[in-house]
Amino acid sequence: MKKIIVTGGAGFIGSNFVRMLLKKKARQKVTVLDKLTYAGNLDNISDLMKDRRLEFIKGDICNARLLDSILPGTDIIYNFAAETHVDRSILEAGSFVKTDVVGTYTLLQKTLKYSIPRFVQISTDEVYGSILKGKFRETDPMLPNSPYSASKAAADMLVRSFHKTYGLPAVITRSSNNYGPNQHPEKFIPLFLTNAIEGKPLPLYGDGKNIRDWVYVEDNCRAIELVGRSGKTGEIYNIGAGEEKTNLYIARKIIEITGADKSLLTLISDRPGHDRRYAVCTRKISRLGWKKKVGFSEGMQKTARWYIDNEKWWKSIKEGAFKRYYSRMYSRRIDTSVKKGTE
Ligand code: NAD
Ligand code: TYD
Repeated sequence: MKKIIVTGGAGFIGSNFVRMLLKKKARQKVTVLDKLTYAGNLDNISDLMKDRRLEFIKGDICNARLLDSILPGTDIIYNFAAETHVDRSILEAGSFVKTDVVGTYTLLQKTLKYSIPRFVQISTDEVYGSILKGKFRETDPMLPNSPYSASKAAADMLVRSFHKTYGLPAVITRSSNNYGPNQHPEKFIPLFLTNAIEGKPLPLYGDGKNIRDWVYVEDNCRAIELVGRSGKTGEIYNIGAGEEKTNLYIARKIIEITGADKSLLTLISDRPGHDRRYAVCTRKISRLGWKKKVGFSEGMQKTARWYIDNEKWWKSIKEGAFKRYYSRMYSRRIDTSVKKGTE
């Protein structure tokens, strides 16, 4: 029986990935190792727990001893575990360095020790930094601008060095922004969807014209599995949907879909170091046989429907410690906002 470890499998992309793996009838044991930080949520996979092929272990990827007890005999590790929110990394970078850098290092050491034949590092297009024209290729240098992307870039360098120095059989995926079910409501699309449903302001940073390329989470999960299976060892694969949108465009779409009042749109002061545009060339992953299945309009409809149907899921998050974070991050910026209801 194939033994698969998914770190961070209770988070947004990791939980969608575990769901996808278990849909296959394959003989496999899937172990989720997750610290359950504010971003992790067992509800994301609780309905899958009845599948005996799934095991959940609450723990930290920095915990070398714990890894010693879990990893022997593993066939493949997918490392999704990370601190992931750029805004939080601006408030406090230490946990990002710890999990994203030291955690990845600890996993790499143990992957070597137990001769695990495949290590898939889930990285991000943000390691390249911002690009105003054109698209980043896998061979471009990394120029990260936030403590989050810098920590992810450091992890990528460690993965590369373990491959070059010790022959560790690793591959790296760098995807663009994901959206879909189970994404924490402090991230852009879920925050705006849930605020729109609640009739609360939609706080757009700066002029709202920053651009991201949005890939539907299930498409990214298929790409990651493909890279794990067929990617060339030591290589990096960009993943993107070619769905470049300004934040303002998305905010307006959300207002249209939810029927919220246009006046909720609120321009607030910008995020420090805010990357203007992300875009990656995806020729390499398409040569492996991947292409997106879900376009942006369909993906947004599916995502909005999920948040409308799963109010209990996000309300329980928004009513907890989230409130303190939200007030710290937004209250003054919304009170002194530049302009309400952008035309
Ligand atoms: P997320 O924040 O929703 O989930 C991260 C998960 O990791 C959570 O369940 C959390 O509890 C767990 N975790 C955090 N620290 C841990 C630790 N020390 N040990 C074990 N578990 C820990 O993140 P996500 O959006 O699902 O992102 C998953 C991965 O994909 C990350 O590596 C991220 O950098 C990458 N990525 C995300 C996006 C995106 O748009 N969300 C885009 C590109 C790449
Ligand atoms: P985010 O979801 O934090 O992802 P990332 O910074 O990793 O791309 O933000 C996506 C975009 O939305 C980014 O340009 C910042 C912007 N944004 C807002 O305008 N307002 C918000 O409240 C948030 C959370 C993000």
